[in-house]
Amino acid sequence: MEIKTDKFTDYAQKIRELKSEKNAVILGHYYQIPEIQDVSDFVGDSLALAQKAATTPADIIVFAGVHFMAETAKILNPHKKVLLPDMNAGCSLADSIPADKFEEFKKNYPGYTVVSYVNTSAAIKALSDIVCTSSNAKQIVESLPADEKIIFAPDKNLGNYINSITGRNMILWNGACHVHEKFSLEKILDLKKQYPDSKIISHPECERPVLLVSDFIGSTSSLLNYVVKSEFQIFIVATESGIIHQMQKACPHKKFIPAPPNDSTCACNDCQFMKMNTLEKLYLCLRNEYPEIIIEEKIRIRAELPIRRMLEISQRLEI
Ligand code: 13P
Ligand code: SF4
Repeated sequence: MEIKTDKFTDYAQKIRELKSEKNAVILGHYYQIPEIQDVSDFVGDSLALAQKAATTPADIIVFAGVHFMAETAKILNPHKKVLLPDMNAGCSLADSIPADKFEEFKKNYPGYTVVSYVNTSAAIKALSDIVCTSSNAKQIVESLPADEKIIFAPDKNLGNYINSITGRNMILWNGACHVHEKFSLEKILDLKKQYPDSKIISHPECERPVLLVSDFIGSTSSLLNYVVKSEFQIFIVATESGIIHQMQKACPHKKFIPAPPNDSTCACNDCQFMKMNTLEKLYLCLRNEYPEIIIEEKIRIRAELPIRRMLEISQRLEI
């Protein structure tokens, strides 16, 4: 299909019109470009957006995020249309765990409970007992008996971090996010010397040495809450750069410095998958109701259970 648009189109306005015409909702992740965050009905982290997806009365959900997030929304809403502006918006972490390999891996650990991070495909969720996000991973793991044998997949950094704060000894899948693994400890410490009054704040997907020097560790929404409540003025932010848009909006007088990556020639603070979505693609996908997320029903049914368990625990614990 040939699609005609031009650079003078006011996409934000057209998106707003289409949204009310079609009773659609736009769920935008904090890592989206600022223009997309600003046109979204809800901006949040993986957990908040999954919670919104589970309760929205809209007929169409447009997920301004990456594939696994839109897939989670579809798993929860089999009868709704769930759209993703760019089907190539994947996730290196979700890609690090192919379902056939994980199925083989699980066979080595009979009797283990599988806790999987939401950054996985529907096929992996279908092989899991309970899902978690970075916001609720600690509480989800702690909701299981202390002697429960657990496999945690796929993020080894988050898994290691949860092991360290809960005293559990979960078996970890060897996966990682290419954005969060690239931060340079040395450069972060140089920045800290330059700004001695700053606070280092990190997402738990970062490697252990970065987490060890951090003043605060949390999901994107906890990082945002932390900077809003903090009396400090300068923050070195070790996560994807998109969150700085909300931090700056909430705290216009505070200073946010993106943590530098090892390779200063790359735009490593940006997740190239998150940044594949543009206002133009968002407009086109809402207009054409395409590309649409489709999931095989057999997989969807199995994947829904561990997500519902997570939502139920999060609601009970008010996370
Ligand atoms: P959040 O759980 O903070 O939304 O993290 C999502 C993500 O993709 C981190 O890389
Ligand atoms: Fe996946 Fe990392 Fe991008 Fe998050 S930042 S979507 S974990 S590749």
